[in-house]
Amino acid sequence: GTPAPMSPTGQDTGIDPALNAQGGEYLTTAHGARRSETDRSLKAGTRGPVLLQDHHFREKISHFDHERIPERVVHARGAGAHGVFRGYGTAGRISSAALFGKDVETPVFVRFSTVLGSRGSADLARDTRGFATKFYTSEGTWDLVGNNMPVFFIQDAIKFPDVIHAGKPHPDREIPQAQSAHDTFWDFVSLHTEAQHHAIWNMSDRGIPRSFRTMEGFGVHTFRLVNDEGRSVLVKFHWKPKLGVHSVLWEEAQITNGMDPDIHRRDLADAIEAGAYPEWELGVQVFEDNEEQTFEGIDLLDPTKIVPEELAPVEPVGLMTLNRNPSNFFAETEQVAFNPNNLVRGIDVTNDPLLQGRLFSYLDTQLSRLGGPNWIQLPINRPHAPVNDMLRDGMHQTAVHSGVAPYHPNSLDGNNPFPAGEPARPFIDFPAPVAASVKERARPVSFEDHFSQVRMFWLSMSDVEKEHIAQAYTFELGKCFEQSIRERQLQCLANIDEKLCAVVAEGLGMPAPGPTVKHSEVRPSPALSQVGKEWPTD
Ligand code: HEM
Repeated sequence: GTPAPMSPTGQDTGIDPALNAQGGEYLTTAHGARRSETDRSLKAGTRGPVLLQDHHFREKISHFDHERIPERVVHARGAGAHGVFRGYGTAGRISSAALFGKDVETPVFVRFSTVLGSRGSADLARDTRGFATKFYTSEGTWDLVGNNMPVFFIQDAIKFPDVIHAGKPHPDREIPQAQSAHDTFWDFVSLHTEAQHHAIWNMSDRGIPRSFRTMEGFGVHTFRLVNDEGRSVLVKFHWKPKLGVHSVLWEEAQITNGMDPDIHRRDLADAIEAGAYPEWELGVQVFEDNEEQTFEGIDLLDPTKIVPEELAPVEPVGLMTLNRNPSNFFAETEQVAFNPNNLVRGIDVTNDPLLQGRLFSYLDTQLSRLGGPNWIQLPINRPHAPVNDMLRDGMHQTAVHSGVAPYHPNSLDGNNPFPAGEPARPFIDFPAPVAASVKERARPVSFEDHFSQVRMFWLSMSDVEKEHIAQAYTFELGKCFEQSIRERQLQCLANIDEKLCAVVAEGLGMPAPGPTVKHSEVRPSPALSQVGKEWPTD
């Protein structure tokens, strides 16, 4: 048959040539009629008018008119890369997932992104970064859809539209917050204090990474792993970059956004093209799957909390190497659809209410972003494991199914896709206990501590990092025009640390309030500081 098409760099794109629409030696219409002319439309006489019967003209213009699909409602700007994940074999005792097996190699596709900017926005905005990984495992696709910060703004997914509406460009002028008024964002995080932890990570150097290659990644939520004996543990996933964690200065970020707004996507593509393949080790913090779902008093179902690595070390389970650039941005980076629902045998979710809401949202948004239910058939989204389902038809269906009985049980298609016998290694639906009654919109008391871990983060910083954080708050709040919002956020800063509040208040020319919450005994966590790791010279 026809060999798979090559990328401009001569690499095998891995795309099925039948889907490539670039065969043959002649220019054709979409239905294969050869064309000798594509530069002049068909006219009555030499000066027109243009004739409606010029199908090639209408097809060319009409297809162009519909070239764009909606950008993602969040994480619209991103860059992707292919690679491979190799298991160390260390996770076998806690998870039966095939991909963790020793030296098992699983192809991956990763998409890094900013959260709030549009598709054409600048890479070095102060923002959280998405770090989404699709593992094409032999037992189905697993998506680890994480961020470069280990906590999130909200504890319940029902508030996701609220926090995003507050962070997106102001609805009246659609001017992004990074360049203009910051009132809505600070209005939200000062009224909604559970967001303070994520906000201080954003104000720290982690909000302006040097490169995608120098970012950590976090699954954020606590997940559940189940082993072959059906025993479970709770885990938090961590990606540790081999190059260490590095950031730029705010002044550098601002200049770069003007002069080289594509810095992060260029840096990733250049490194891979040069053979300097970026690598991350995947690790897990492991906790007992106890009834309370807590560890050392930390609620593991609260996505605004971390577990310091001094209390639960990160145990490495495998290595990811990104070694191939996409050959077509649209087909791969734009059409890839991640979904926290994509789980494989041995990996399961917990009752974290933020994670539970995400299990609805991604599939739902992709139905409109990718035009119906069949985006799974797009090359980048196809599993590398065999598929045999009873899903049929729908918008953009490209599979031609055989058989007459896509229902179960049936006696016409040999009961396919349920032939006799239990399949080997089926997905494990872990029998997690649930509360017996529906509790009206309740939230646990442990979710009400909004400041102690923010203080821990602050106390963990070196002096220079503290200076950067105070400058970031001063800059950001300086763009807040509502005095009452500034005052409310200064109150939050006083609850984090009085010195931090005093420095920012002075910068804003405002009085510094005192704290309204008592600081419990908070130990700084050395692992949170970036200082001490050298920028490599490769
Ligand atoms: C997209 C991470 C919370 C809704 C994304 C992406 C990442 C991500 C990395 C980009 C995926 C890509 O590159 O295509 C996270 C993390 C969260 C979180 C780490 C919290 C820990 C939520 C919540 C919701 C949500 C609570 C909604 C209830 C979405 C939607 C998209 C998205 C709608 C766009 C997906 C698409 O268009 O394909 N998220 N997210 N996220 N997220 Fe989240």
